[in-house]
Amino acid sequence: MNETSHPNTNHVSDLSLPCEMITSKRAFFSRRKFIKGLAVAGSIAPISALSQSEKENEPDSLSSDSSLFPAKRSEEHNPGWIQTKKNVAQTYNNFYEFTTRKTMVRELAKNFPTSPWPVEIGGLVENPMTVDAQELMEMFPLEERVYRFRCVEAWSMIVPWTGYSLSRLLEKVQPKPEAKFVRFETFNLPKLAPGIEKYNYYPWPYVEGLRLDEAMNPLSLLTFGIYGEPLPTQNGAPVRMIVPWKYGYKSIKSIVKIELVKEQPKTFWEALQPDEYPFESNVDPSKPHPRWSQAQEKLILDIEEGFFGDSLNYRTVKTLPYNGYSDQVAALYEQK
Ligand code: MTE
Repeated sequence: MNETSHPNTNHVSDLSLPCEMITSKRAFFSRRKFIKGLAVAGSIAPISALSQSEKENEPDSLSSDSSLFPAKRSEEHNPGWIQTKKNVAQTYNNFYEFTTRKTMVRELAKNFPTSPWPVEIGGLVENPMTVDAQELMEMFPLEERVYRFRCVEAWSMIVPWTGYSLSRLLEKVQPKPEAKFVRFETFNLPKLAPGIEKYNYYPWPYVEGLRLDEAMNPLSLLTFGIYGEPLPTQNGAPVRMIVPWKYGYKSIKSIVKIELVKEQPKTFWEALQPDEYPFESNVDPSKPHPRWSQAQEKLILDIEEGFFGDSLNYRTVKTLPYNGYSDQVAALYEQK
């Protein structure tokens, strides 16, 4: 899909800038100079008192051998949309195992060990396996895909992820006929991830799930990288899911287990608030969250440093059904 055919064109086209300008490392490291020349109209919301320069100067702990990066950009998933700046996607995170404070995740996750990282793929499959995340990453060719990412909290980003379709792995392990769902599980290490102990009333470990046909849809990306590099811990190193037509909490991070099961798995958020975070959770502007509208979203583009702390630079855009991926996934939900 290119930008002109993208259904949200009217709302974001005036923000279109060459992707390279926005994503290249050089642009990232000369961010301040770059921002000065970038006239992006948008609202500003204060988010953190942490100094941006502090965050930028420290290198991220990258999860795995980076010789496979950057992977080739997929032609099919290379829309001409403006992209969220790397420093935003890597400093404004939801990762409750560490903290519920988005801008603190990176700091609290920086010493978390992500190698070696055994991942178990099993349950109702013919060929169960336990492999290290590095081996999992090398199992199929990686590609980069630019996806829209919509959080249930009504903010969004546009991010280049690196991985391969989960369907490749599922075909390899061969689900048995009785397998109907895929259950994903994150690590449960309270000594290393302080949020697990702090919020001990949450139903750890973080669990997510997809119907098998959703998991087999080529858009469902088993993800190892972001912005042309291995995932940093705060983004879910060493391996996570990205399911772009569903709210962001379905995109589970730091996976340790992928299990094919017969019954619909109980997910972390569903166990907490079933009416607010149901299993399916497709992005749907016509269906409000019980506590807020889902008709619009804040497309976050950048963080700017200011006198009173950092602020988010975003543009309010209309939310699209299936987050703009109707062509690829709407058929999954037609009445059979
Ligand atoms: N996965 C785990 N294990 N723990 C989490 O707290 N948060 C989810 C999802 N995956 C979460 C998780 C939510 S609510 C969102 S919006 C995305 O991760 C955020 O991904 P990002 O920080 O890479 O933008």
